[in-house]
Amino acid sequence: MAVAQQVFLRDAMRKLNLTRDMFSARIGVKRRALDSWLLPEPSHDFRVMPEVVRRFVTEIVENEALLEKYSDAAPRRGSLRDRIAINDKHQLLSVDQFTRDSVEELFYIADIMQPIARRQKVSRVLEGAVLGNLFFEASTRTRVSFGAAFCRLGGSVCDTTGFTFSSMAKGESIYDTSRVMGGYVDAMVIRHPEQGSVAEFAAATNIPVVNGGDGSGEHPSQALLDLYTILTEFSRLGKLLDGAHIAVVGDLKYGRTVHSLVKLLALYRGLKFTLVSPKGLEMPTEIIEAVAQQGNHVIEQTNNLEQGITGADVIYATRVQKERLQSEQIRGYGPEFQINAAMIERFATPDTIIMHPLPRDSRPMANDLSVDLNKDPRLAIFRQTDNGIPIRMAIFAVLMGVETLVQHSMRDVTWSPPTHIGPDDAIFHGMD
Ligand code: NCD
Repeated sequence: MAVAQQVFLRDAMRKLNLTRDMFSARIGVKRRALDSWLLPEPSHDFRVMPEVVRRFVTEIVENEALLEKYSDAAPRRGSLRDRIAINDKHQLLSVDQFTRDSVEELFYIADIMQPIARRQKVSRVLEGAVLGNLFFEASTRTRVSFGAAFCRLGGSVCDTTGFTFSSMAKGESIYDTSRVMGGYVDAMVIRHPEQGSVAEFAAATNIPVVNGGDGSGEHPSQALLDLYTILTEFSRLGKLLDGAHIAVVGDLKYGRTVHSLVKLLALYRGLKFTLVSPKGLEMPTEIIEAVAQQGNHVIEQTNNLEQGITGADVIYATRVQKERLQSEQIRGYGPEFQINAAMIERFATPDTIIMHPLPRDSRPMANDLSVDLNKDPRLAIFRQTDNGIPIRMAIFAVLMGVETLVQHSMRDVTWSPPTHIGPDDAIFHGMD
């Protein structure tokens, strides 16, 4: 069975690095025809792409790959999980494990997962496998979406939350906990308040381990779903990521999502980063240096929000990580750092996208991303959380070595899910 038309076309555009306008011109079809081919199949405006176009696009992509093979670019060798492995182990601990090529290969697998994530299809490729979800720090979406992703591939989940009810409260070491869990489950996702602790868990077992957030260290699955969201939104808007302006706002010192995200974005070229934070909560120097070393990026740091977000293609807001900082630093986070409707009206563009890893702190005085943007279609936060499922399914499929089986394993769902999940979800003129 050939991959779905949407998956095929999205992959081709990513590989060729072309916007919808550029791609439709390259293959000689009208932009409107391409848009209708790019819709998910159940959509009303979906049209079947002629077979001759599929053959032509395949040829263009293969020629491009051939050109690359004879250039300096590193050739793809082995499975994706082997190429991102750490010391031959199938783990996801840091975004440093990815190249632009391997990250886009993961997104191709995430695209294949979309019909399952959107509840049109079911799969049982992980039937019999058990996931251990070990969360020693507060979490809702990361824990549940990892669990749901595993279940939607046919696996089951066992979990434990917090230290109080775990044997760590009795003084058990990370090594012992990890080795014991490895005997019970087939993969683990771990969130822990200490930076580096998930790598310690991973060193004590040979089963796949995923970092669900280690203190103020990294949060690779979040960064992957953030990048996937940016690329999907940009495709709809007809933009390329190379050369884009990304404004990152908030607690950049302790926010692990932004540490992973800026490193991942740095795999692209010519980005302008504006890093907006109050004094004392700036992005760590080692991350700025890592980003500065590649891709011809421009990095600006400021504590002036208006200046930092003006004209940005993406505004990525984050919560102040109160659990990790001292009270005097919180006082520095005033209303002048809040992204709200008035601010967006004045300084953003009609196609700026607004993101946040969530949760947003809705308490008074928190000055986190305002709820007055909830009906603004530029607010991508729930499209972003929805993308957590296909991305985490793709991560598991790759780490467990079943990604090539998914396409053939899909069956139609037997129940009928809602067409729009949220009451305020925007419809983008039929565009996906
Ligand atoms: C983030 C986290 O835990 O790092 N949440 C998440 O996983 N989506 C961000 C946060 O807690 O502020």
